[in-house]
Amino acid sequence: MTDELPQTKAARVDWVIRAPDNAEMRRRYDIWANAYDSDVGAVEDYLAPMEVAKVVGQVLERSARILDAGAGTGLLGQALKDSGFHNIVAVDYSDQMLEIARGKAIYTELHICDLNNATAFAPASFDAVVTCGTTSQMPSASLREFARLLRPGGSIVFAVLPEAWESCGWAVIMKELEAAHRLTLGSRGVPFQMMPTTEPDFMCEIWVLKAT
Ligand SMILES: C[S@@+](CC[C@H](N)C(=O)[O-])C[C@H]1O[C@@H](n2cnc3c(N)ncnc32)[C@H](O)[C@@H]1O
Repeated sequence: MTDELPQTKAARVDWVIRAPDNAEMRRRYDIWANAYDSDVGAVEDYLAPMEVAKVVGQVLERSARILDAGAGTGLLGQALKDSGFHNIVAVDYSDQMLEIARGKAIYTELHICDLNNATAFAPASFDAVVTCGTTSQMPSASLREFARLLRPGGSIVFAVLPEAWESCGWAVIMKELEAAHRLTLGSRGVPFQMMPTTEPDFMCEIWVLKAT
C-alpha cells in the first residue's frame, strides 16, 4: 500500500468514489488495486457481482461471448466463471486493476480502455455486456457503445444504482436508445444493499436491457 491510500477499508472506498474527475479516479483505482479484493472481495461485503451472475445465468447460454465493462480485478468475471461462463472479455481503464484480474485466468482477453472513448470491438460482436459497481463511475455515454457492441437480441445485465442512473445521465441516453429502437428495458430486479458493510445506503437493482 502507498502512503496515499487511506487507512481503513471504508475510507478507501469513499476516497475512490469521491475522486473529483475521471483521471483522478483512474489514478486512485491504480493505487487501490492491490488492496481492492481484500477490501470488497468477500461476498458478504459486496453482493452485486453474485447477483449479476445469477441473472446472467438465467438469461444467457454458457457459451455466450460476454463483455465485462469496468471489469476491475475480475470479481464479476469470477462469479460468472464459477457459474460456467468461459468466453468473457474484460475492459477497464485501470491497468493495475486489470493486472490483478489477469492473474486470475478468468478472461479470454483483457483490454485497457477508457469507456469515454469507443472501443476497438466490431459492431454486434457480443451476446451480452455485463457491468457492476459502475453506475456512478463509468460515463453514461458508454450505453451507446454497449448497444453498438450487442448482437440483435443481446442483453446488458447492469447492477444499477437507480439514483445514479438518473443523476449521472444514463436515463437520458436510455431514452434516446429506446426512441431509436436500439434498446428496451427487459426486467428490473428488487432493490438490495450492494455493499452492506461499507455503504449500507447504496441500494442496487439488477436490470436487463435488451438490444432490439
Ligand atoms: C467499483 S469498480 C468495479 C469493478 C468490478 N466490476 C467489480 O464489481 O468489482 C469500478 C471499475 O470501473 C472502472 N472504470 C471507471 N471509469 C471507467 C472508464 N471511464 N473506462 C473504463 N473503466 C472505468 C474502474 O477502473 C474500476 O475498475
